Amino acid sequence: MQWNSALYQDKHAFVFKYGEDVVQLLAPQAGERILDVGCGTGHLSNVIAHTGAKVVGIDNSADMIASATASFPGVTFQVADAADFNFFELFDAIFSNAALHWVRDAEGAVICMSRALKSGGRFVVEMGGNGNIEKLTRGIGDAVREVVGAEVDHGRHYPSISEYTTLLERHGMVVSNALLFDRPTVFADGELGLRNWINQFEQAVLRDFSSEQQVEIIRVAEGKLRDQLFRDGNWVADYKRLRIVAHKR
Ligand code: BEZ
Repeated sequence: MQWNSALYQDKHAFVFKYGEDVVQLLAPQAGERILDVGCGTGHLSNVIAHTGAKVVGIDNSADMIASATASFPGVTFQVADAADFNFFELFDAIFSNAALHWVRDAEGAVICMSRALKSGGRFVVEMGGNGNIEKLTRGIGDAVREVVGAEVDHGRHYPSISEYTTLLERHGMVVSNALLFDRPTVFADGELGLRNWINQFEQAVLRDFSSEQQVEIIRVAEGKLRDQLFRDGNWVADYKRLRIVAHKR
């Protein structure tokens, strides 16, 4: 999918604000070599680098990597697929926030991440977990069906604890903590919040339709979701996070 890095930075800053908790859990140390998988606009890579760690951020979006490189010239960024990368020099830790649910080949990503870690290296990750944005996704899918009669593939997968920890254990990791929790998430911009989110994150769904159909899909989705997700002037999405701490055997 094509990412709009400007819209992401401007309206969806909550993604990396919540991610700062995950950085704390990582507890990066000066001099450590840390890989940020799915680094997006690089905000959290830069937060980690401020501790004196040597950070490499990877993302499969060239637009995101261009934005990250321009914003944080002191950090190393490169375009790479999370399920198909290889580094010669191993890492002390792997970090990822709100990215791994986009990777279709979850096992391929686990294989690459495990291979990139030193023995004893830390793995600290948060992503959308089982049941993430179920209401939101259903509302958008129903709206697309109603307006254009099509079924949609949102292109994301939200694993359960058992699914992801099994993959990690199969590929050389020891899991010490895994948590699935609700995180109701308030979108910026009041009434416009859902529209902004759909335009950013459901582009792969919308781009097959005319601009009039896109406007209608968003209008219908807002109508279907208002009772469930609109509270006190803001859209509040039914996010669920899967947070995992592990290390390489
Ligand atoms: C998430 O972080 O859970 C997410 C972000 C954008 C689209 C879908 C899910």
